Amino acid sequence: MGFWKTWFSASESATSRNSSFGEDTLDATGNSNANSDNSGSTRITERIVFSTERDIDLYELEELCDAVGWSRRPLRKVKKAIEHSFLVASMWQVRGNHRRLIGFARATSDHAFNATIWDVVVHPDFQGKGLGKALMKYVLKKLRSEEISNVTLFADPHVVDFYRSMGFMPDPEGIKGMFWYPH
Ligand SMILES: CC(C)(COP(=O)(O)OP(=O)(O)OC[C@H]1O[C@@H](n2cnc3c(N)ncnc32)[C@H](O)[C@@H]1OP(=O)(O)O)[C@@H](O)C(=O)NCCC(=O)NCCS
Repeated sequence: MGFWKTWFSASESATSRNSSFGEDTLDATGNSNANSDNSGSTRITERIVFSTERDIDLYELEELCDAVGWSRRPLRKVKKAIEHSFLVASMWQVRGNHRRLIGFARATSDHAFNATIWDVVVHPDFQGKGLGKALMKYVLKKLRSEEISNVTLFADPHVVDFYRSMGFMPDPEGIKGMFWYPH
């Protein structure tokens, strides 16, 4: 599909350490940003790392969602949603041996043709640096590696252009997203 071709022909900013689905971790840059303290003797490396691990601290995730003003959801349901998602992607700031959850996304799927991406979020401290795009790229790469060819999502109106910049199209060929809610 044209979409995949466009998206993945771009130069990769991530390097894979372990290709097994569900466990691999990518460096955002392939290189660490090394900082040194005042004495210059201790080097604290800082990296952005992506992961598909599912064992996410629900309170940390709630904190991340709070930070962007999302309404709270019952943790037991969030836990269930994560357990039943096809793909769970998280993005971490790693400094020394401390890591902080700074981004999250997940996808549900029929495991063959279709996947739908949900809950895409980047902490406000890290927005506007290309990390949302890197997270989406990571998610799409994982879905593509599972031969999923049809990826959909529901964009809030203020982020339509964010997704558009990655090749997502609103209403392709007139297709409409339709919703049913209990009355
Ligand atoms: C939407 C979100 C994930 C974007 O993450 P981010 O790290 O700030 O995005 P990036 O820095 O990677 O931006 C990538 C591109 O999208 C553009 N972009 C980012 N946020 C945008 C927005 N809200 N509207 C339009 N364009 C946007 C950037 O300008 C950039 O364009 P460029 O590639 O031409 O430079 C982040 O703002 C967020 O978590 N928002 C709150 C939660 C939310 O609304 N999630 C989406 C639910 S559908």
